[in-house]
Amino acid sequence: MKGVILAGGTGTRLHPLTRITNKHLLPIYDRPMISYAIEALVTAGVSDIMLVTGGTHAGEFLRLLGNGHDFGVDRLLYSYQERPGGIAQALGLAERFADSDKLVVMLADNIFELSVKPAVDSFLRQEEGARVVLSRIEDPAHLSHLGVPDIADEGPIRKIVEKPAVPPSQFAVTGIYFYGPDVFEVISSLVPSSRDELEITDVNNHYVDRGLMSYDTLDGFWGDAGESINAYYEVNDFVRRHGANGKRCEEAAAGAHITGR
Ligand code: DAU
Repeated sequence: MKGVILAGGTGTRLHPLTRITNKHLLPIYDRPMISYAIEALVTAGVSDIMLVTGGTHAGEFLRLLGNGHDFGVDRLLYSYQERPGGIAQALGLAERFADSDKLVVMLADNIFELSVKPAVDSFLRQEEGARVVLSRIEDPAHLSHLGVPDIADEGPIRKIVEKPAVPPSQFAVTGIYFYGPDVFEVISSLVPSSRDELEITDVNNHYVDRGLMSYDTLDGFWGDAGESINAYYEVNDFVRRHGANGKRCEEAAAGAHITGR
């Protein structure tokens, strides 16, 4: 499986911090944010990675990560997103890199307490379709900033609603996605949303509508550090106290925290 890490976009919700750097270069505890996404994939056994970024600070990623070897990456390729055209548009830039392989896609502002390896392993066994990872969030106000699945009693996802005024469940769709090579056909068929972006939720609903979307639910902390300045500090505080990606956490090794469907 190959990995694609998305680190473009404008980071407007963290202005003015992100006027002078790319959001994913801001610190989370003792390291730049981007290094957690790389660590998440490498510790899950994915070490052939493309990083998609954009804007005026793209060169800083090269300076930080180089060829990726110091971070455990075998092969690190870069792509440049000319304008922030949405998560799905950024993913589309990885088409040639993906070739005919399965993909794990990770948003570089997402931080997971525990290892994502169980979800990676589940998708390696999955024969067709796509996969998302859900996290239980009880606060409806928080959910209204995220993608939320319409789901009941561990049944199939009936729809994913992006930033719903009234969340249809108590789960968020986290920023780690699994696709086969057919995802690029889906992306090429998308039309831009009202905010002029190609939406990852439209990609995911393509699979939902065809009964081809599986999911995992995860225990442990999950945070979107780009959601707001308070979310950024919440993630920082958590990582400082507890670590991330299963480092300093025994349950991660056992993989007991993710239950697949
Ligand atoms: O964090 C999980 C959430 O991420 C999901 O629950 C939502 O369904 C999903 O749409 C997404 O929502 P956000 O509002 O957090 O997306 P955002 O625009 O902040 O973009 C997330 C990351 O995607 C960002 O850190 C970098 C990358 N990105 C985004 C855009 C718009 C790009 O690489 N290029 C882009 O053009």
